[in-house]
Amino acid sequence: MDQKSSYNSPLNELRPLIYSLPVAILLVVLTWFETVSVANAIIITALIFVSMLYLNRRYEEEIAELRRKTILQEHESRDTRASQFLLTNIMENLTDPFLLLDSRKRILMANKSAIDMLGADILRKDISLFIRNPDVNNAIRKTIRTGKTHTVEYMHGNVVPRNMLVRLHALDIQGSEDNQENKRYIFLSIYDITLIKQAEQMRVDFVANASHELRTPLASILGFVETLQGPAKNDLQAQERFLRIMHDEASRMTRLVDDLLSLSKIEREAHIPPEGTVHLPTLINSVLETLDMRLKERNMTVTVSNPDNVGNITGDFDQLTQVAQNLVDNAIKYGRENTAIDVVLKKHVSEFPIHEESVSIAITNRGNGIPAEHIPRLMERFYRVDTARSRSLGGTGLGLAIVKHIIQRHKGHILFESEVNEYTRVTVTLPYKSG
Ligand SMILES: Nc1ncnc2c1ncn2[C@@H]1O[C@H](COP(=O)(O)OP(=O)(O)O)[C@@H](O)[C@H]1O
Ligand SMILES: [Mg+2]
Repeated sequence: MDQKSSYNSPLNELRPLIYSLPVAILLVVLTWFETVSVANAIIITALIFVSMLYLNRRYEEEIAELRRKTILQEHESRDTRASQFLLTNIMENLTDPFLLLDSRKRILMANKSAIDMLGADILRKDISLFIRNPDVNNAIRKTIRTGKTHTVEYMHGNVVPRNMLVRLHALDIQGSEDNQENKRYIFLSIYDITLIKQAEQMRVDFVANASHELRTPLASILGFVETLQGPAKNDLQAQERFLRIMHDEASRMTRLVDDLLSLSKIEREAHIPPEGTVHLPTLINSVLETLDMRLKERNMTVTVSNPDNVGNITGDFDQLTQVAQNLVDNAIKYGRENTAIDVVLKKHVSEFPIHEESVSIAITNRGNGIPAEHIPRLMERFYRVDTARSRSLGGTGLGLAIVKHIIQRHKGHILFESEVNEYTRVTVTLPYKSG
């Protein structure tokens, strides 16, 4: 404001007059002593006045230009400060680690996540002290040399190694008027891709496992078809036996495809809360009826007890039937012959942290039990304690994976307890209202 008022002062207009005044006075004195003629004095004063006028105009133009530049620079530096502040804040608040390196691989800037990951004392130090991976360091050197973007994957950490993806971008800053030198910086971003890698691996394993599971019965069916066409062409007895095996194998493939389809349907509906009312004792009884033949085959009995009078709960009838069917089926398959299976329904009320009512269904069978190391993996797709045994009993290895997904959708949980050569108990707990 001050500058502006001084530039525009009315003094500016008078400046040529003021500067010409001493010369004019001098000329008046000289004219008085008749050293200079009056005409010459007037001409000289006029000339000086005109030159002063001209110089003053130039001077004012220059001052105006200078003022425009100063205001522009002020704006620019305010903008630079604002964008620097914005950038630092954005970098700081990003959840992924970001670093800025100079062309000698030294860390110039690091956001909070980078410091959390690599340590507090990293500034001005060589990045290779903190990421000791040769691939990453080669890529950094290449980006510094060529200016090209590079992406590298590496494992970070020794105790719990994680899959990391590093992206490197070169940032070239042009030299300024006073410093012509161009500078190259490296912007390094790190992403934790462990979960993506795991999901990818699971998908690959799943396709491989599913194909393998389907190929086994298929190969066996093809083998028997060839035998029936060739060596066993006229052997009626063998034909009958082989056809029965082929029927069993085809049924196994059907079960497998059914389980796969039902798994994908459950996954599709995973985010839709189940609605509908299910009367649990009725559901258990109807499942036991469908499995009655199997129970008789193994001379097993089932006792159902419902001391708390559990009745209706919120849930999907078909899905909860699938849960009970799979769990009782396992109890029959993996339980010892001539033993009893117990099914116990119970009600639970918890007061803390919130009032919540739930019901549990515990299914206990006597048998070989499950060694503790297998328990955490039982619900993985195709995981079996004894694959050959499960296959020979007609299992697909998908039953518990289906159970897990249905229970997740109902916001319930499942617990396995077992003692080798004694018993296995599977307890499913479901909220009264699963919505
Ligand atoms: N009640 C049980 N007693 C002993 N082992 C069990 C029991 N239930 C499940 N398992 C083990 O868990 C594995 C996975 O079960 P599941 O997913 O139902 O597959 P499947 O029954 O088709 O083999 C079974 O192969 C078996 O080894
Ligand atoms: Mg099963």
